[in-house]
Amino acid sequence: MLKIKNLLSADDLSKEDLLEIIELGERIMKSPEEFSHSCDGKLLGTLFFEPSTRTRLSFESAMNRLGGRVVGFSDSKASSSQKGESLRDTVRTVSQYADIIAMRHPQEGAAKLASTTSDCPLINAGDGGHQHPTQTLTDILTITSYKKRLTNLKIGICGDLKYGRTVHSLLKVMSMFDGNEYVLISPDELKIPSYFKEQVLDANNMPYTECLNLEDVIDDLDILYMTRIQKERFFSLQKYIRLKDSYVLDPKKLENAKKDLIIMHPLPRVTEISTEVDSDPRALYFKQVKCGMYVRMALIMKLLEANNA
Ligand code: CP
Repeated sequence: MLKIKNLLSADDLSKEDLLEIIELGERIMKSPEEFSHSCDGKLLGTLFFEPSTRTRLSFESAMNRLGGRVVGFSDSKASSSQKGESLRDTVRTVSQYADIIAMRHPQEGAAKLASTTSDCPLINAGDGGHQHPTQTLTDILTITSYKKRLTNLKIGICGDLKYGRTVHSLLKVMSMFDGNEYVLISPDELKIPSYFKEQVLDANNMPYTECLNLEDVIDDLDILYMTRIQKERFFSLQKYIRLKDSYVLDPKKLENAKKDLIIMHPLPRVTEISTEVDSDPRALYFKQVKCGMYVRMALIMKLLEANNA
């Protein structure tokens, strides 16, 4: 049984809880049909105040594949928040209907606030530039499934390391595992924040280097985690336009990369990975999407304390 009642942040996950969820995710991945009635009679509420394709649909697919049902909204304009209803009241209301809630919101800290009035478990499906813990679970299940280990890996993370919530959550969780080296590849303006270096990388003795050019480091990597330069996080459109094409992964850059490199991306992508890379067997980002559904099935089962969880 997990120690947590809600999943609000990657910081909430102990190593034991994380490995329990991943172990169940692996079991579900191997034989999903065994779990097709695990959440019969249960209802998931999906409250999406910010756009999403993967997270919302993977949560909804996960609950449907577990035999449960889903209610919710994908556009807050269709909810009473438009009439001035507070987030706390919206969440308290939905928790009277649903057994578990997945919520995405543009404001940092919104999930924590919402959890204070929810009468059922609440999962943060992304809050602004802060946290996206189920993307991290997705990433960890992908790494364990395709690299068979979470240790002794050289991991390059490329793109927006300043605002990228998936990057922050992933590094936080990887701090639990020894022997990894991190290569942080970004333009100067989008470097990992100093507080994060101190509080996570340095505090956990995680070896890292920072660099500007992907070409300089790609050949040594075991994992390349690409990220999108996020237009919605910029106050200045000019700055976004200047930075948006900082990195474009294409077949040429991969010519001398390791044969067993895995290329990950939380998606959506814009221009940072050329579509020509999609047919490379090292490109895992669409398989990663599927891992996201399986790991969300595992998380829902664990938080609802389903029988075979
Ligand atoms: N990876 C991810 O969070 O994708 P969506 O924004 O489409 O949910």
